[in-house]
Amino acid sequence: MIFETHAHYDDEAFDEDRETLLASMQQNMIGCLVNVGASLESTQTSIQLAEQYPYIYAAAGVHPSESAALDEAQFEWLAAQCAHQKVVAVGEIGLDYYWDEPDPAVQKKWFVRQLELAKALKKPVIIHSRDAAKDTYDILAAHHASEAGGVIHCFSYSAELALAYVAMGFYIGVGGVVTFKNGRKMKEVVEAVPIERILLETDSPYLSPEPNRGKRNTSLNLPLIAQKIAELKGLSYDEVVQITTENARRLYQIQC
Ligand code: NI
Repeated sequence: MIFETHAHYDDEAFDEDRETLLASMQQNMIGCLVNVGASLESTQTSIQLAEQYPYIYAAAGVHPSESAALDEAQFEWLAAQCAHQKVVAVGEIGLDYYWDEPDPAVQKKWFVRQLELAKALKKPVIIHSRDAAKDTYDILAAHHASEAGGVIHCFSYSAELALAYVAMGFYIGVGGVVTFKNGRKMKEVVEAVPIERILLETDSPYLSPEPNRGKRNTSLNLPLIAQKIAELKGLSYDEVVQITTENARRLYQIQC
């Protein structure tokens, strides 16, 4: 069974057929999935999905692009959600400099607060980092993020940086980009990183792999990603599925 480590089924892109789709996961070999919060609202809906389906788990966190909306009272609420028995990680949190807002100082503040929360709760972090390679790495190193552990989701930097994160105890999230014709950098990352440090993810509804690029993504596309990793690593498809599933169980500390 495949372990989907990162999806957003609370997204309105799934309003039409969410229940049918989620009900079909296990018969399509998707054994377990983590629905990842990106705001206070989606943290709540992620937990609701986790309560509804035994094989869905949740991550609680506020994405850097949403971080300007945070205040102390909301942070307290978020911390309380993290204690829920089906919340397996704090995320997605990090830095996103692709957009001009929020100000980097605001993003950094709430990134660090949520990172420290994860460490206090002994839960791993799910990191979102876009056009912010140096600051993300520096913050994770300075705050001893290795104590929490986690995954650099939708990894988009160099193979060299991926290996630095592996050395820090992190996993590398690999999704649809590895199948793109212009995804050369991501292919190099997959070749360099040990399979024991790779997690399968889709980031559904975004980043659909080839040949479905541009369409709505779902976890049912995970075999396309696993197959590409198998080719790049010289492993069988079954080996990739089995090892990445074990990796996800180890990181999130759940058996499913
Ligand atoms: Ni995401």
